[in-house]
Amino acid sequence: MWLVNSSIGRKVIMSLSGLFLIVFLCVHLTANMFMYVSPEAFGHACHFMGSPLVMTMVPVLAFGFVIHIVYAFILNARNLKARGNEAYRSGNKTQIPAASKNMLALGVIVLGGLAFHLTQFWAEMQLQVLLGRPEYPALANMGIEELAKPYALAKIYFGNVLFSIIYIIWIAALWFHLSHGFWSAFQTLGINNRVWFKRWNAIGIIFATIVCLGFISIPVSFLLGILN
Ligand code: HEM
Repeated sequence: MWLVNSSIGRKVIMSLSGLFLIVFLCVHLTANMFMYVSPEAFGHACHFMGSPLVMTMVPVLAFGFVIHIVYAFILNARNLKARGNEAYRSGNKTQIPAASKNMLALGVIVLGGLAFHLTQFWAEMQLQVLLGRPEYPALANMGIEELAKPYALAKIYFGNVLFSIIYIIWIAALWFHLSHGFWSAFQTLGINNRVWFKRWNAIGIIFATIVCLGFISIPVSFLLGILN
């Protein structure tokens, strides 16, 4: 009950769910990087993501997202109520990074991008498995070999400049969210001190940059013809 009723408990839930989502991001990025190996290698990675072992994790992942988002709104509402118009007006002139002030707004952009992404990729793959239907309805009757289908789907979407730009904006919002969220999670969990404050900050920015550049490299590579 402490985790739900106290403000520090709610922050702990936020940090644990955030770190859980970070692990998911790493797994997802690893799968995406197989696109650089070959369409078939990426196909194998996607089949692994659709395997019963990983599929049992889908509800856990969805739960992680729901908890993180619900608590984001609860924390924000309580902060606003407690501070009123004084929200984030620092008495000691401490500079507060823009990302830390806008975590909810950044989260909402991340959520919007996620919903868009789900309709384009997840709905074609895992959702069809869950419904007991053949995967990739968008590629039906195109004569594409089964293992090459996930890559073919990515090629169609990322061949569209507008879609690629929306994707890049989405990942840029994720970068800002992570650049603050990463160290903030360790701060919340008390795995921090004067020395480690700066280190977690730097590690967070390096981590967010590697992850987000990895995701963004895919549409950029399709647009530049590095992937084709
Ligand atoms: C893959 C997606 C996401 C990841 C990896 C992620 C990660 C994180 C992490 C690590 C934190 C720091 C927790 C702490 O301060 O202890 C955080 C905070 C936060 N997240 Fe997310 N998040 C994601 C998506 C979202 C979404 C979709 C929303 C809302 C719609 C959201 C809203 C927030 C808010 C408001 C905070 C700040 C909470 C506070 O300290 O007051 N996040 N996130």
